[in-house]
Order: sequence, then structure tokens, then C-alpha cells
Amino acid sequence: MRILDIIEKKRDGIELDKDEIYRFIESVSKERVPSYQIAAFLMAAYIKGLSRRETYYLTDAMVASGETIVMDKFSDFTVDKHSTGGVGDKISLIVGPILASLGIPILKMSGRGLGFTGGTLDKLESIPGFRTQLSKEEILRQGKKIQLVLCAQTAKIASADKILYHLRDVTGTIDSIPLIASSIMSKKLAIENDGLVIDLKVGNGAFIHDKEQALLLADTMSYIGEKHGRKVTIVLSSMNEPLGRAIGNSIEIEESLQVLSNKTDGDLLDLSVALAAEALLLKYPDASLDELKLKSRNVIRSGQALETFISMVQSQGGSLEQFYESLKHNCIETIEILSSEDGYVQSIDALTIGKLSLLAGAGRETKEDSINHHAGVYLNKISGEKVNKGDTILTIYLSNTKNRDLCTKIAESAYRINTKIPDKNNIIIDIIRGK
Ligand code: URA
Repeated sequence: MRILDIIEKKRDGIELDKDEIYRFIESVSKERVPSYQIAAFLMAAYIKGLSRRETYYLTDAMVASGETIVMDKFSDFTVDKHSTGGVGDKISLIVGPILASLGIPILKMSGRGLGFTGGTLDKLESIPGFRTQLSKEEILRQGKKIQLVLCAQTAKIASADKILYHLRDVTGTIDSIPLIASSIMSKKLAIENDGLVIDLKVGNGAFIHDKEQALLLADTMSYIGEKHGRKVTIVLSSMNEPLGRAIGNSIEIEESLQVLSNKTDGDLLDLSVALAAEALLLKYPDASLDELKLKSRNVIRSGQALETFISMVQSQGGSLEQFYESLKHNCIETIEILSSEDGYVQSIDALTIGKLSLLAGAGRETKEDSINHHAGVYLNKISGEKVNKGDTILTIYLSNTKNRDLCTKIAESAYRINTKIPDKNNIIIDIIRGK
């Protein structure tokens, strides 16, 4: 069976069998397939689609293409939490400590930010001394002691996905439901866990823009996960507006610490509590969801979740004292954007704010770019809040002055303000729980 035969079969819309998919992915990961043939296959899969069976085998083959991580069992139930990525998304920094405080170990391997969405590792590395590269022994030792580890991937997991993802990015084949589902799930399934809660972001600040597509993706990911014996819950949450007020790295850590210190509420807290409760429900299927939400909320109120976060930071070499010092002494230029009218904030465009934060120096356009941990955007006013003419609505922390004028212009276009009090939209759009 030649690679060309596999491409032609897919091009003609004929379902591929398990052996063909495995053969293709194995050859890709051994770097035996030239990129023009991989690109042709991806385009054929994009246009003709992949059946559920094909998507399942593709995921399986990608898991097999790399290393798998078996976390020696030290807990009867472990959960992974994944976000498909959005603007100001710092939920893992809050949900991790909540669940760890409630006895569900979270040993999470995260990625860096790319494009207008941020990454948990970049945020954590804004804490002076914080180490994200841990050995497997360190992960397990800390996991047993604190129940919480947030670190970088230790092994080459789902290696074929890296090759396919890179080519999808440059061949216009990113937004294919089966290709996205297999890409995400291959990385999740490569790390052993009992449950999986996925925060599937929907809106213009996410890569899935509408609910219909999100439901299709959720259905495909649930199918793959459950066929692998995972308990999967997928929460569709809105990403038309940034999450919380801070978008950047150190300022997102600061905001997470405020949530964990019980000093702020709103969508960020509500979604964190809802996701934590869904993870608990996977472990305790007979419990009441409202009670699990209350439990999650209470570990924040009691200060326990904050303590767990602090223990994790200390165990991974970070210093929160130095973190707060570094915030005070950061020497980046600050621009305040003022409201030109009286009224209420109707909406703040997530994509525009994501791009603004990238331009300010908080994100990477390519993997090789460096970031400034203190750069970012702070939303002084968020949707529903009253503003008077001349109030500061947004603050930009700039890493260099060259983008000053462009940043100001973009920031001014992000807000919609008028005189009516806007309706409050629910942050959670839908929840898909496994059988
Ligand atoms: N995230 C992934 O890991 N893969 C995709 O294809 C899209 C988002």
C-alpha cells in the first residue's frame, strides 16, 4: 500500500481502514512522507471529511506515534482539564488549586501561548524562579505531596500531531472538526487519567465561532474519549469577550491570585467553579451539582485553594514576594484609554483585545518569538459597567514604544458603549456530559 494510494482513496471520498491510517501516520512520524504528500492528504481529509471510525483511528495512530505518560497510580481518580484556548483564559490556575484542595490530584502538562491566545506556562513563568520543566519523578513527588503540578510536557507525546498541525497551519486545513478533534484528543489520551473536562471556547476570540460547530466538535471528542474509557464532560463557554479583566502573563497571575483570595467575582469565578464542579461530578456521579459547586466555591472562601496554589509555587521554586515586587518595578510604558462618552459598556471584542495584547508584547506570533511577561491589557471597565466620559476604560502595558499609536487605535475600537443597560449573557452556553 503506497502513500499515494491512501491519498487517492481519501480524495475519492472512500473510507480509509485502520491499517491505512496507521500506515500513513507511522510513515509521517518516521519522516518518510514528504510534506507535499501530507498536505495533499490533509486537504483531501478537509474536503471529503473523515468518518467517526477514521477519526478514532487517526487519534489512536497519533497517540501511538509518540510516548505515553503513565502516572503511577497514587490516587483512585485523576482528572485532566483542557481549554481550547481564548483571550484572558486563566481558568487552569484557579480550577487546579480548587480540585487539588478537594482531593482530586491535578498533574497538568500545559503549553505556551501562540497567536492571540495565551498559554499557562508563559503565565506561570512570570513568577520569578518558577520552574516548569520537571522530571517525571519530581511531578510524582509533588503530586503526592500537594496534589497539584502545573508544568511543561516532559515527553514527546503525539509526535505526528506536531507535524500535521504545523502543515495544517500553512495549508488552510485548521478548521476541520475531525482534524481538530483528533489533534486535541491524541494529546489528552497520551497522558493517563480517568476523567477529562474540556472547556470548549466558542466565539470570535476562539477558533470555533458558532455553537453548531462546537457541538459537532464536542460530540466527536466525547466519542473518542469514551471509546478509550475516559469519562468526558465538555463545557461550551462563551469567548466573544475576554475572560476576566487581565490579558497578559503576570497580570493574569495577579488576577488569578485575586480570585483565589476571594477578592473578586464575575464570569471568571463562575466558570472556574462550574468547571471544577463538573470534574468532581465525574468522580462522584451521584452527588448534586449544586453541592459540588458550593464545595468548590467554599475552598476559595476558606483560603484553602490559595494555600494549595502557594504550596505549588514554592515547590516549583517560585517566589510570590518577588513576583509582587516585579509588578511594582516593571518599567514598561503604560497607556490609558479614556471613554469618549457616558453610558454602559455593551461589549468588548475578544479578538481585538487578543490582538492588542499580542501587539503590546504579551504573546508570540511565531514559536520563536520572545514575550514580555509584564506586557498586556487590563480592562478597567467590563461589560455591563457604567462609564462616564473621561473614565479610564482600558490600560495597555506596552513592552516597547514602537507600536504605541497602533495599539491606541486598536484599543479604541474594542469597546461598544451606549446608554442602555445591556442584558447579561450567560458565560456557559451548553454542557455535554458522557453517558
Ligand atoms: N488545538 C489543538 O491542539 N489542535 C487543533 O487542531 C486545534 C486546537
